[in-house]
Amino acid sequence: MEKLNLLILVIMPGVWSADWGVTFKSQCALRGTSVVMSCKYDYPVGHVVTSVKWSKAQRVSGLWKLFYLSSLPSPPGHFKYVGNYWSDCSLEINNVQHADEGQYFFSFSTTLNRWTSKTYAHLFVRELTTVVQPSTVTEGDNVSLTCASGCSTPLDVVWFRDGEPVTNPVFQARREDAGRYYCAIPGQETVRSASVALNVQYAPKKVTLSMSPSGDVVKGSLVTLTCSSDANPPVTQSGYRLYKDRQFISSGLNHTISDVQPGHNGLYHCQAWNNIGDFVNSTEVHLDVQYGPVNISVSMNPPHIVGGSSVNLICNSTANPAADNYTWYKRTASSSSMVQVGSGQVMSIPSVEASHTGLYLCQARNLLGVDNSTEVLLAMKEDEHGSSSLPLIAGVAVSLLVTLVLALLLFCRLCLISVKEARALQPLKINPTAFMPTSTCFPPLLYLLLASLLIHRGAQAVNMMTSCLMKMRLPTQQ
Ligand SMILES: *[C@@H]1O[C@H](CO)[C@@H](O)[C@H](O)[C@H]1NC(C)=O
Ligand SMILES: *[C@@H]1O[C@H](CO)[C@@H](O)[C@H](O)[C@H]1NC(C)=O
Ligand SMILES: *[C@@H]1O[C@H](CO)[C@@H](O)[C@H](O)[C@H]1NC(C)=O
Ligand SMILES: *[C@@H]1O[C@H](CO)[C@@H](O)[C@H](O)[C@H]1NC(C)=O
Ligand SMILES: *[C@@H]1O[C@H](CO)[C@@H](O)[C@H](O)[C@H]1NC(C)=O
Ligand SMILES: *[C@@H]1O[C@H](CO)[C@@H](O)[C@H](O)[C@H]1NC(C)=O
Ligand SMILES: *[C@@H]1O[C@H](CO)[C@@H](O)[C@H](O)[C@H]1NC(C)=O
Repeated sequence: MEKLNLLILVIMPGVWSADWGVTFKSQCALRGTSVVMSCKYDYPVGHVVTSVKWSKAQRVSGLWKLFYLSSLPSPPGHFKYVGNYWSDCSLEINNVQHADEGQYFFSFSTTLNRWTSKTYAHLFVRELTTVVQPSTVTEGDNVSLTCASGCSTPLDVVWFRDGEPVTNPVFQARREDAGRYYCAIPGQETVRSASVALNVQYAPKKVTLSMSPSGDVVKGSLVTLTCSSDANPPVTQSGYRLYKDRQFISSGLNHTISDVQPGHNGLYHCQAWNNIGDFVNSTEVHLDVQYGPVNISVSMNPPHIVGGSSVNLICNSTANPAADNYTWYKRTASSSSMVQVGSGQVMSIPSVEASHTGLYLCQARNLLGVDNSTEVLLAMKEDEHGSSSLPLIAGVAVSLLVTLVLALLLFCRLCLISVKEARALQPLKINPTAFMPTSTCFPPLLYLLLASLLIHRGAQAVNMMTSCLMKMRLPTQQ
């Protein structure tokens, strides 16, 4: 500054010096605007102004020097003298740029003298600056936009988001409010701040579970379940979870089933989470695995078949879609080959004959496959229940009777032998009851039972028994 002052050529005109003078006002301007540096000048009476000049201090090789504006490289009309040749020395600067900032001096010549201002007008060039507070918000939070300029004069500004006007600089953030904001001078929209981003974060939306391939899935094929969502920040791999029938299966974006089985059937849904709020559920997707008939079984109704009655053979299978084509085969009596004997899920035989008996199987078919049941035997049962049980009871009774009689006869023989032996062994003083204790060998109750059973065999049997009893008792009485 000292150097600058030294460089200013000041010509002191002596007695009239008090009348020479220039008065300015420093200015602050926003880049891109136009500014008028207002200026007044004075000189003693009797002088006639012959030229006016503005100059700007520039630093050249470390030294401040004054340069006439006309010598500075600038577009035409950039500097415009809007004063006159007697008292107003105002200067207009259009489309102010940062390079225009600095100190401006005014000088003029009269018919008698030259004068350059001792002081200067300072031009400050400032930018508009947008502040978004806060710049990262969660949906629903309040956001306020402020526009600052380095100049102290109060500013009237308008707001834009990605080029679209914004009505209110204070608002509750919605997802669609995300974008780049800037402020500008009304009517002078080229005079604008740099843009500042507003990031609006939100919990996952549009959480969708998709299945590939979609539609019918055939057993054994490959299925991929993919969860997707719209979220800010985006959902990471670990933020996704897959559920089958409301049971957790896995986490991650994709879930691949390489060999899909009927057991994979079910309702699937996924969840997405991105640190904001709770896990969000997708809608459910039905995985419907299609497969040919399996677990084919044959049942008979009624289960026991009597000649002449009717019977239904029912074929049951598990299939998706359900089996719609059933064929019945019967193994022929002579050969090992099978012949087709019917169709439909139920095969009816109205009146069962001997020729119907044999091995049957059912073949179930849907559009995905075909399979056979095991062979089942259709057999007739001739004599069952009442009629057949009577002879059985009779047979049992007869055999029991015969056994008893034989046992009795044998016993009686033993009795006779023991009596004889007892007599024979008497001299040796051996008690024959040691071999034959009356109470345990033949309880009187059993005799009664035998008697009643044998009553019809006549008195002979009774006599025989009585004699046996008599004989048996003989040794005990000794
Ligand atoms: C957001 O602003 C509204 C009105 O300006 C106010 O009622 C609300 O409490 C503010 N919300 C928060 C979270 O500051
Ligand atoms: C989301 O799915 C989970 C797991 O199946 C369940 O517990 C929860 O109730 C579901 N939430 C909603 C809102 O449906
Ligand atoms: C998930 O699956 C989709 C298509 O099914 C595929 O484009 C993507 O690369 C897979 N992503 C991962 C991480 O496996
Ligand atoms: C077939 O039966 C087996 C044994 O009972 C069972 O484990 C399997 O799940 C059944 N298959 C189908 C498709 O129902
Ligand atoms: C057919 O099979 C299903 C399941 O396998 C079973 O629930 C049903 O009772 C069976 N029907 C007959 C008539 O066997
Ligand atoms: C059942 O399948 C067999 C073999 O494909 C076919 O010949 C027959 O016409 C089918 N029956 C019905 C009723 O669709
Ligand atoms: C089912 O039985 C029929 C008749 O015996 C036979 O021709 C066919 O090969 C069998 N199919 C299977 C899969 O066993």
